[in-house]
Amino acid sequence: MSERILIKGGRLFDPSHHLDEVGDLLIENGKIEASGRVGSVSDAKVINADGLLVSPGWIDVHTHLREPGGAHKETVRTGTLSAAAGGFTTLACMANTNPVNDNSYVTSYLKQKIASEAVVNVHMVGAISKGLLGEELAEIGSMVDAGIIAISDDGKTVMNAYLMRKAMDYSRMFNLPVIIHAEDSCLKGRGVMNEGFNSARFGLRGIPKASEEIIVARDLLLAELTGARLHVAHVSTKGSVDLIRAAKRRGIQVTAEATPHHLTLTDEGNYDTSTKVAPPLRESEDVSALREGLRDGTIDVLASDHAPHSIADKEVEYDHAEFGMVGFETAFPLYLSVVNDGHLTLETMISAMTSRPAKLLGIQRGTLQRNAVADVTVCDLNAAIKVDKTKLHSKSQNTPFHGWELKGLVKNTIVSGRQVFPFPEGMER
Ligand code: DOR
Repeated sequence: MSERILIKGGRLFDPSHHLDEVGDLLIENGKIEASGRVGSVSDAKVINADGLLVSPGWIDVHTHLREPGGAHKETVRTGTLSAAAGGFTTLACMANTNPVNDNSYVTSYLKQKIASEAVVNVHMVGAISKGLLGEELAEIGSMVDAGIIAISDDGKTVMNAYLMRKAMDYSRMFNLPVIIHAEDSCLKGRGVMNEGFNSARFGLRGIPKASEEIIVARDLLLAELTGARLHVAHVSTKGSVDLIRAAKRRGIQVTAEATPHHLTLTDEGNYDTSTKVAPPLRESEDVSALREGLRDGTIDVLASDHAPHSIADKEVEYDHAEFGMVGFETAFPLYLSVVNDGHLTLETMISAMTSRPAKLLGIQRGTLQRNAVADVTVCDLNAAIKVDKTKLHSKSQNTPFHGWELKGLVKNTIVSGRQVFPFPEGMER
């Protein structure tokens, strides 16, 4: 049941139509009913948003919910509770589950699971290749019928250029974005961190930046050849940003994303396995290039790459640990730290979390306009927080940000006119 909610006196902020003014937002029957000076409304739950930012609900195009097959790391339920606590109202979840989401049976199973357990909107990404093996195309057409909205072998790279070309050709029939994980697996080898001074210092095998850039360059050429919509996930190097910028100038249909960790961390860390991600954390010139890319529109969206892993997967030697870190509940304060440090405007940050990801996924979301679906996030930009991994709502705690003092607190997350955070009674577990 949707409620009538009146959000009073907040800073209504919606870059999709240049809205930035103090006012009220009335939500009724799951839709945005009115905004501006609304006055008093009977039977409404009132949220006092004095001093708070009221934004279209945040959208995260790159997440891992781990079902089926990885419920010890995360479930649709725990992942979406964590997302709601992090201010996200819509997610897209990747296909690297067990079994892989490479056919309509898995897609349909997941769809049911989402319908019964998710507390925010969840869209599914189907695999490009069967089993993510890069050998044969997955059953893309039937997965589209079952509900996928993009294709990706994320976690793995499609190394066969011919197969990638076929996937791109095929994606055009359904107007699906093709999301790439760009790491040449031969060049990456058994690397575990960025190749450079620090990998030598730590005595760990390195992953050269060229392993990413080779695949970005190849897939940009294939996108040009096929006319497919290419989306480059978790861009990590300056070279990739330069390639994407040049491709956009040439008119290639490409979008790109940056993660909170690639925007705030470098490879200077320690042996803490929670810093082990794919692609790896790079160097400060890469971090600067990602920020520049966001500023000039080369990078379109912000995405968490929420990748939960269990203690058994992470409390091992760096060489043996899984790649990935959780992200839902730290993404917003980390993005905001980039804004507060003067590297990004709030407007770019919020559009990269709302209208731009909505456009990428082809969904009618990411706006506060009248009659839009009422997905809304209310947050405090000034509240100081301290990240505590033991308090996350995810099933996993693999974050290198434990103990960080940041600004930015999510106050309310509203999905289709219903408040899902703070959690209504009975929702949590
Ligand atoms: O670090 C990562 N972890 N990068 C990916 O692309 C996959 C993800 C995972 O599934 O754990």
